[in-house]
Amino acid sequence: MSDVRTPSGRDLPSVRVHPPGPRSAEMGVRLHEVESRNVTFVAEHWPVFWAEAVGANIVDVDGNVFVDLTSAFGVALLGHASPCVQAALRAGATLIHGMGDIHPPAPKLELLERLAAFSPWPDAKVILATGGSEAVEGALKTGALASGRPGVLAFEGAYHGLTAGSLSATPRAHFRAPFEDRLYGGVAFAPFPDPVRDATPDGADALDSVRSALISGAPNGDEIGTIIIEPVQARGGARIPPDGFMAELSKLAVAYDALIIADEIMTGMGRCGAPFASPSLGLEPDLVVVGKALGGGMPISACIAPARIMDAWPASDGEAIHTSTFLGHPLSCTAACAVLDTIQNDDIPSRASKLGETLLGGLRDRLDGVSGVGDVRGLGLLLGIEFVAGDGGPAHGRGARVAEAALSEGLILLPGGDHGHVLELTPPVTLTDEQVEHAVRTIGSVVERTQ
Ligand SMILES: Cc1ncc(COP(=O)(O)O)c(C=O)c1O
Repeated sequence: MSDVRTPSGRDLPSVRVHPPGPRSAEMGVRLHEVESRNVTFVAEHWPVFWAEAVGANIVDVDGNVFVDLTSAFGVALLGHASPCVQAALRAGATLIHGMGDIHPPAPKLELLERLAAFSPWPDAKVILATGGSEAVEGALKTGALASGRPGVLAFEGAYHGLTAGSLSATPRAHFRAPFEDRLYGGVAFAPFPDPVRDATPDGADALDSVRSALISGAPNGDEIGTIIIEPVQARGGARIPPDGFMAELSKLAVAYDALIIADEIMTGMGRCGAPFASPSLGLEPDLVVVGKALGGGMPISACIAPARIMDAWPASDGEAIHTSTFLGHPLSCTAACAVLDTIQNDDIPSRASKLGETLLGGLRDRLDGVSGVGDVRGLGLLLGIEFVAGDGGPAHGRGARVAEAALSEGLILLPGGDHGHVLELTPPVTLTDEQVEHAVRTIGSVVERTQ
């Protein structure tokens, strides 16, 4: 590795050895020996082990330089090792751990105040957490307390996490099947309007299903008090609801006295061109959850709601009923405050919107007329290329095959959609024009040769 220079973050890919190179391959064998075998997929062609990450560039242990079009699961919106996060980590190094809900570290208070001010509500209150699923757990519990009804309405294609509560609201059978008996049965699933194949492109069928679930209750008979929805389905394949759908959903929630949780773990913090994606799509949530980009690479997430909702929790009598060891982790809180500063001072939402338009326009032009490309869509820096089979149905696994082939060309990409039929892009806002042009050209040629 000594002959490999740290990339600038703005570099184009440079593949020295076909990935995975010998060092990644050897580490894959070792990993297989010591990690539970369900966690990391290891095969002849996958994965590469990362050695460095800066801006949009990743260097693997074999010295290959990649351009990361995923922001590593949407986290590095400001780029990897963003200067603001690095400075925050240096400044915060004398307080690495605190006693979150007992003797709080000062940075926790600072972040709570910053998040409350960043939120859509003047009197917002916050529950901090470490990852997205954990923030969703907090929101679902808050929804049950505030509505007085435990049942939940979620959407087909949604991804809210894999902890027990969040998994109950995540419909994909692949994740649920082995644990079905342990999952809460009070979740009804409604269709999420499908941009490619819905008979009613305005989402009217989906709204009918929502209405009947709110009237008849969850499969186990529980009354539904909470609706949870991603403004744009992320892992579901960058599915953007049709105009008007979210506004109608919000009206239904009011009519049936249900609370809405907006899961903005992927869409929030500027990625979709606004601090939160909900308002621009007409969704009026009662609670919002954020994570991923919030910590700029440090693990932190939050559930935010106005006082009228959050005060459904009883006051603590000295023994909190919803907390954890790392709640309010000071180093993560310091990093998140720096990220919020950058999002606001550098107008990251507008930059994400402009860059997203350029990338979307480029991909649409390049992929126009290419066989099997059913749709190219995006909102800000959350984009998807959907592949269709000859019968118009999803082209199973083609997104995954394209992502795999793109790795050899120096692009890090991920598949999305319930059938791995979407290529998903959630790049950092630091992508240069040159990196965008290169990515569009490369994706075009990889898509053409990968069926
Ligand atoms: C919309 C959404 N909600 C929740 C989660 C779960 O977050 P985590 O993986 O941090 O638990 C994810 C993760 O991809 C997500 O995209």
